[in-house]
Order: sequence, then C-alpha cells, then structure tokens
Amino acid sequence: MGEKRFETEVIHAGYKSDEFRGSLAPPLFQTSTFTFDTAEQGARRFAGEEEGFIYSRLGNPTVAMLEERMAVIEKGEKALAFASGMAAVSAILVALTRTGDHILCSQGVYGCTFGLLQLMKEKYEINHDFSMMSTREEVLAAITPETRVIYIETPINPTMRLVDLEMVADVAREKGIPVVVDNTFSSPYLQNPLELGCDFVIHSATKYICGHGDVIAGLAVGPKEIMSKIAMTTQKDIGGVISPFDAWLLLRGLKTLPVRMDRHCENAEKLASYLSGHPAVEEVIFPGDPKHPDYAIAKKQMRKPGGLISFNIKGGQKEAQAFINKLKLIKIAVSLGDAETLIQHPATMTHAVVPKEAREKMGIKENMLRLSVGLEAWEDIRDDLEMAFESVRKESTMETGSI
Ligand SMILES: Cc1ncc(COP(=O)(O)O)c(C=O)c1O
Repeated sequence: MGEKRFETEVIHAGYKSDEFRGSLAPPLFQTSTFTFDTAEQGARRFAGEEEGFIYSRLGNPTVAMLEERMAVIEKGEKALAFASGMAAVSAILVALTRTGDHILCSQGVYGCTFGLLQLMKEKYEINHDFSMMSTREEVLAAITPETRVIYIETPINPTMRLVDLEMVADVAREKGIPVVVDNTFSSPYLQNPLELGCDFVIHSATKYICGHGDVIAGLAVGPKEIMSKIAMTTQKDIGGVISPFDAWLLLRGLKTLPVRMDRHCENAEKLASYLSGHPAVEEVIFPGDPKHPDYAIAKKQMRKPGGLISFNIKGGQKEAQAFINKLKLIKIAVSLGDAETLIQHPATMTHAVVPKEAREKMGIKENMLRLSVGLEAWEDIRDDLEMAFESVRKESTMETGSI
C-alpha cells in the first residue's frame, strides 16, 4: 500500500489494530516501567542489543504510536513527543548548539522562546540575533561564522508576519546551517516545512494538534539519526517527556485535525473581514488578507491562511483591555487552537517577558489583541465582538458626554 492522503494518515498512521486484539482505539499504556523476562534480557535492552521497552522516560508504546503518526503527517523521518512545546524547543536548541555558537532567529518568536534564548545567552554564551528574513540578502547578511541554527516561527506569534521557508532553507543549505521551524500556528495540515527544505519542525501540540484545550505537550520532527540521538541524550537526560495519557489524547485529537482546521480557517476568514470593516479597529493582521505584506508567501507555502487573527484596536492598552473585558462568549486566555474562541493581550500576557523595546521591534503594540478563532458558529463570535465594541463605545460616549 502506498502513501495515503493527509486526512487518512491522521487517523491510521502509526497504529495497526490487529496487533492489539482488534482494539479500534489505540491502547493507553499507562505504565512507568516494563518488566524483563530475565536479567540478561534487561542487560541486552540497556545495551541496545534487543528491541523493546525499558522505562517510559526512554519510550512507551502509546507515545511511540503518536511519534510514528506525527513523523508521517509532518513528512519527516522521526518524531519525538515532549511534555510541552517549550520542552521540544529547548531540546532541539540545546542539542544543536554549544557555547560560542549563534542562533539566527525570525523577527518575533513566542515569549518563552525569547526567554529561553536569553537564558542560553546569559548562562552558556550562545548568542542570537533577530532578522525579518525578507530577502536572501537579508538572511545572508545576518548569518555569522558562528551561526549553527536558523530558528523560524511562521506565521510569527502574534504579529502574523511570515517568512519564506523555501528561500531561507535554500540559503541555509548553501551554508550548511540547519533550519528549525516552529509550525504551531499552521499545524501540519496547513504547512509542512520539511517539504520546503527545512530540517526540523517543532509544535506546541497543546494547540491545534490537541485541539481541545486539555493537554500541554510538544512534538519535534527531524532526521532519524539526529532525533534518535536526541531521544537517548537531551530528551532522556533532561527528561521532559510526554505522559502516555497525554500522548493518547493527542492521537485522538489528530484524527479530527483537518476537519477542525477547515472550520477554524473558514471562521477566521469571515471574522477577519468583519473586523477589517469595523470603525473601532485600526488594523487587522491576517495572512489571508490580500493587503497583508506577506500575502504572497502565505499563498505559496500555506494550504490556508490559518485560524489566528491579530488586530490593533483604536487607542492603547487601556482600550484593548476594556474591550476584552466586555466579551462574554469569547474567553480571555493565552492558548490557541481550541474549540473555544480565545483572545489575549500579547503585550501584557504571552509577550510580557519581552522588553518593551524588543516588543516594539517585533511589531507588538500595546493596542494589539490576538484572536484564536474557535469552532463556534462564526455569527455568534461576530455578535460577541460587536456587543463588546458597542458597550465600550457607549461607555466612552457617556464619559465624554458626546453623542
Ligand atoms: C508558537 C509557540 N511556540 C511554542 C509555544 C510553547 O508551547 P507550550 O505552551 O506547549 O510549552 C507556544 C505556546 O503558546 C507557542 O505559541
């Protein structure tokens, strides 16, 4: 049997029911350790002379099913599952760098990734720089003789700017530098960086891959040889492995990923267009908008423009906070990719750890809000936004006394 389509692989890859007494759902191996038949067998497993499980920090059947499925759908050789997206980010960055190295990073990353880069700089003298990576020349100019990793988020959290992955991968290949992509915002359904020439993909699986807001987890996919080494060194010894139950929930979440993503994207397109026409909104930043500066890149490398919208409300932090305080259906929360529509204020929440000056360079303004569009009827999400805009407008009219 040849390769199946994405929508089939998310349901079947990595699991054969006939190997598990016909159980349709993958079994949950909720165990910390595995028994050996004999002392000699234990010794052979530790020596790597015999296949088999040893201890769940080193591998677990349910986790292995998830990893196999993930490698197939991200079109890579080997995946590893972690306790969080940040455990995946840190394992890959720690594995690929040493003291004195340099990481070239997209102009804007998730706040804790920014925090990790700071920590690596302060404690281990692993430096980094940020670049918009808009052209080949810009990428080449930002690479130093010490650059060992190019690290990209696209779309960037929360500015929604994009990086041309094929172009950067091409430059990086010439220089022999691996490209790591945080693909959280797109999910494997909308974008496959490895197919575009990048080397590693990371996901906060907490988001679209889980899809139900009940798991914290991470996944990384890359070349078999390096990932196997990471599994037996960085991952095993630092220890940020996923629990079998969370892996089981992700296997379940993945089955509906394409269906959910289609709905997230459909809702987001309608809401971006509603917000664009709203008089209280200064700017809408959505990759599906032909006026978005990276619209052409979105068309080229993403299947659809995604389910996230950032928008700048007229005013500043006070106005942004007053607006989200009025929302009822939409919840104020800092995750994304869930069934529920969520909104957050990046400057004081996800990116509060980024100093103001660096935040401004990234394009995160005090009046920016990030909307993770959920799976509800889009008209209900729109009505909630409209109600909040209207309440704020009425209150400010009363305060100023104007009509
Ligand atoms: C783009 C991106 N990468 C990584 C992470 C970290 O993932 P986790 O919270 O699962 O550790 C997040 C979390 O919000 C994120 O948005």
